[in-house]
Amino acid sequence: MSKRVLTTESGAPVADNQNSATAGVGGPILLQDQHLLEKLARFNRERIPERVVHARGSGAYGHFEVTDDVSAYTSAAFLSEVGKKTELFLRFSTVADSLGGADAVRDPRGFAVKFYTEEGNYDLVGNNTPVFFIKDPIKFPDFIHSQKRDPFTGKQEPDNVWDFWAHSPEATHQVTWLMGDRGIPASYRHMNGYGSHTYQWTNAQGEAFFVKYHFKTNQGIRSLSAEQAAEIVGKDGNSHQTDLLQAIERGVYPSWTLYVQIMPAAEAADYRFNPFDLTKVWPHSDYPLQRVGRLVLDRNPDNVFAEVEQAAFSPNNFVPGIGPSPDKMLQGRLFAYADAHRYRLGVNHTLLPVNAPKATVANNYGRDGFMAANAQGRVKNYEPNSFDGPVETGQPLSAPLAVNGYTGTHAAPQHAKDDDFFQAGELYRLMSEEEKQRLVANIAGGLSQVSRDDIIEKNIAHFAAADADYGKRVEEAVRALRD
Ligand code: HEM
Repeated sequence: MSKRVLTTESGAPVADNQNSATAGVGGPILLQDQHLLEKLARFNRERIPERVVHARGSGAYGHFEVTDDVSAYTSAAFLSEVGKKTELFLRFSTVADSLGGADAVRDPRGFAVKFYTEEGNYDLVGNNTPVFFIKDPIKFPDFIHSQKRDPFTGKQEPDNVWDFWAHSPEATHQVTWLMGDRGIPASYRHMNGYGSHTYQWTNAQGEAFFVKYHFKTNQGIRSLSAEQAAEIVGKDGNSHQTDLLQAIERGVYPSWTLYVQIMPAAEAADYRFNPFDLTKVWPHSDYPLQRVGRLVLDRNPDNVFAEVEQAAFSPNNFVPGIGPSPDKMLQGRLFAYADAHRYRLGVNHTLLPVNAPKATVANNYGRDGFMAANAQGRVKNYEPNSFDGPVETGQPLSAPLAVNGYTGTHAAPQHAKDDDFFQAGELYRLMSEEEKQRLVANIAGGLSQVSRDDIIEKNIAHFAAADADYGKRVEEAVRALRD
């Protein structure tokens, strides 16, 4: 077979890819060497801004298959009947470190799914944790600054990490989760995914439900101890990427079973926990898990940059029958992601193959901007028009949410059991004695590195408020490490 000819970006043949064109043998390089100029200039532009959080990640394609009828709760077409399959792309990630960071670290993991449905792409941008550190988006930039590199030292600083938590009692639940056994998953395949927020489902009759998503791994949960993780990071910083890539190449396709907790909308106001508080779970005894379907990953991307680095998920990408709840964190995220994509990837990021709808086409009057690869043909670019352009459906996408009261910077509404510590204490009390010991050792390992006593004391007070025994043990363990 004859070899394909190497070309410039405009498609012209390249005569020599080993020697630059020079003025005479050994002379200076000629400006007319288009191939050299193009090669060097393109190389300078290979990097784009990394994600401000979740920079390090791995992705794969797969599908979702409905196994149980949930049509009584949502009109979403991709969930409409048992056996229905929808293509998807999933990106896993760590949160705090930059692109070159290691995989096997103590950090939440991102679990972002893009379902390519016939009603448009539905993005469920979750984590491997059912709760989060904060409950108001206004705190997010401060939170992330405290967990990433310090502007002066250029390193992650225990002072900053624990100082933020000292001032954020609502973080106690998630900190307990993160410092516990599940804080370092053995691989992306061996952890659960959660939508974390409460979302709203609307059925064909217009009835509203609040739901929480749980993707349970079918590989079993496997985690690493701090010591095991340190050893792995020393050998292979890319351990999660290696594991996922190789499993799929070998045909060992990882899968997750999706369950939802469903709350009729009328029950939200009087529930004992604020159902829209991202630092709280809904105990399964209150709202049991109901199975929905199975998610399988069966294809690796061919090009990590094009398909994983340029993947753009937005919690604002809903489909009819699924919508936001009044969760303030979620509301903040509805703005943040598409804005981040416009900065990181450009205004036409939705035209990239990994982000574009696959089971339908986008028809709208948005035009132009950098890299406008899709001009949408010889059609009008305004609406309404008399030329058969796309028109609105007139159908509501989801049930309306009731609101009342006055505008203002309000704290979240209080429900019967809304303190910041009760659920953290419940999680602690659920743990076996060995789990408690590892949890306390992990916390003390970090907290003992903090330079200021007041920061340490505030954090211990939070653990003590969750459970007296928890606080006492952390205090003793920190003292033992500092003495
Ligand atoms: C990534 C903002 C909370 C999960 C990102 C990105 C931003 C962001 C700007 C980078 C997007 C990009 O450049 O592609 C925020 C804000 C939050 C918040 C403002 C709070 C108000 C959360 C929560 C979760 C979460 C609560 C999970 C429940 C993720 C995931 C990614 C991500 C999984 C990576 C998506 C991917 O793989 O491309 N976030 N985030 N974030 N966030 Fe958040």
